[in-house]
Amino acid sequence: MTFSSKLLSLLKKAPLWLGLLFLFGCPSKSYKKTKSYKKYGATGKRSMISTQGPLSTKAGQLIFKKGGNAVDAAIAVSFAISVERPQSTGLGGGGFLLLKTPESPTPLSFDFREMAPNKSHQKMFLGPSGEEQKGKSINGPLSAGVPGLVAGLFHIHKKFGTLPMETLIEPAAKMAEEGFPVYPHLARAIKARASVLKKYPSSKKLFFKNGEPLKVGDRLIQEDLAKTLRLISHFGKKGFYGGFVGNQIAIENQKEGGIISLEDLANYKVKERKPVKGSYKGYDVYSMGPPSSGGIHILQILNIIENDPLKKMGYGSADSIHLISSAMQTAFVDRAFHLGDSDFVKVPTQKLISKNYAKMLRSRIKANSAQTFEESKMRGPFPKESDETTHFTIMDKSGWTVSSTQTINGWMGSGFLVPGTGVILNNEMDDFAQKVGASNLFEAFGGEKNLIEPKKRPLSSMSPTIILKDGKVKLALGTPSGTRILTCVAQTIINYLTFEMDLYEAVAATRFHHQWSPNEIRVGSNPFPTSIISDLEKKGHKVKFKPLGCKIQAIADEGAVLRGVSDPRGEGLSLGE
Ligand code: GLY
Repeated sequence: MTFSSKLLSLLKKAPLWLGLLFLFGCPSKSYKKTKSYKKYGATGKRSMISTQGPLSTKAGQLIFKKGGNAVDAAIAVSFAISVERPQSTGLGGGGFLLLKTPESPTPLSFDFREMAPNKSHQKMFLGPSGEEQKGKSINGPLSAGVPGLVAGLFHIHKKFGTLPMETLIEPAAKMAEEGFPVYPHLARAIKARASVLKKYPSSKKLFFKNGEPLKVGDRLIQEDLAKTLRLISHFGKKGFYGGFVGNQIAIENQKEGGIISLEDLANYKVKERKPVKGSYKGYDVYSMGPPSSGGIHILQILNIIENDPLKKMGYGSADSIHLISSAMQTAFVDRAFHLGDSDFVKVPTQKLISKNYAKMLRSRIKANSAQTFEESKMRGPFPKESDETTHFTIMDKSGWTVSSTQTINGWMGSGFLVPGTGVILNNEMDDFAQKVGASNLFEAFGGEKNLIEPKKRPLSSMSPTIILKDGKVKLALGTPSGTRILTCVAQTIINYLTFEMDLYEAVAATRFHHQWSPNEIRVGSNPFPTSIISDLEKKGHKVKFKPLGCKIQAIADEGAVLRGVSDPRGEGLSLGE
């Protein structure tokens, strides 16, 4: 599309994006007066919760009221959001969690990402001549990894929880029993995945009414899921990985072509990992390491731009967008070639996040021209020394902070709801490279280190992040949205710490994304003015307009108050006490 035709199509959509501009606010001081600022932002003295689901935020708040700590609240929110956002997350999925306790000088990280089943292998999604078969890794139970969420929550509860698990599960079980009206995002997801959902009678029964996908306002009651939650409440982890639920998962997924066995379920392992650590303008930044690529590349992007006069260039200027998106572009080259599950392949983490390496990468970014696909691939040796997920953030003033991203991968995961359990299995196997050079649901380039192996965890972009200043938490955040996660998190950090925006503004401001392949800048909702787009095109960037899907959930400790923001692009809620 030429620039003029793009301009024309943008102008046609002007009422929409001007509306978004008004709603979300732009980098001016007027945003504080918007309804959206009040609706999606909150302050508190003792605690703060930001999640993508209003009912889940309230479930977390209830736990604080019962005397629980932030870990208790996080566990309650995880179960609740599994009920409230079945399109994005659930017991059939997995995730990562970063935790700062009052005692630990630095955050801890927990990996409860799905694992490839024992029977998985590198060619499982390829056709007879080794060709990609896209839908196979996305639809149906063969696309599912062994779920890790329930194991993760029990692991964390055992170490840090203070209230009984039954108390933490109860709000979710009640929500599943009583139901809630379908909201627009959920209705969109059900409709978008209707053709897969209706293939499985159990999925169709829950998400269709009179032969049609549920619509906005229809009540979604998840009785089977409520029963599963109560079994977990009663029998603990075994209530999910064994007994009725475990048996149903193993038997029913295999009936429909899946390969998860009871043994796979029994052998699921939570991993405690060291978060990746970097520094940015005097702050210590902690984020998720492999099998997430997120933390490494957030640090890489921040390192590359750290010494540039971004504030002087200005937020939303062609120069700052060019620089930041070029840093993203180069980081994604490394993602393709170096990242995978570090239990299986060597990931040169320290080299990738080193300041010297960033210096070399920075030197290749020219002020006035974008790097081509091939140019950005050229690295040379390392310097010697070297659409759909959910996120919530919880903080309290006694020193606990939780930042957790959880997912079943694509909308409605594999689309397969395990009969009698209410559990939707993920389609996380699509996050593996089906073969070198193939791309996944998020169009990310598949590298050799991310090929399928039994028990391996697929590469992720989920980036729960906690930032400290002098040992104290300053900011904690994260977001859903596949590969866009890490660039949205990096930009929010830059907006808050470098452009010194108010937290709401830092979250609401227009964002962009570059992932090298495709070699273009993708500008999200409320796009920059056409003059800026034209300047970027003059520098050689291809610019595409498409919402990024990120829904940042952020909390900052601003001394007198804890400030929370749930991204105004979503339907979430921040609540403080
Ligand atoms: N499934 C999305 C991610 O892990 O990044």
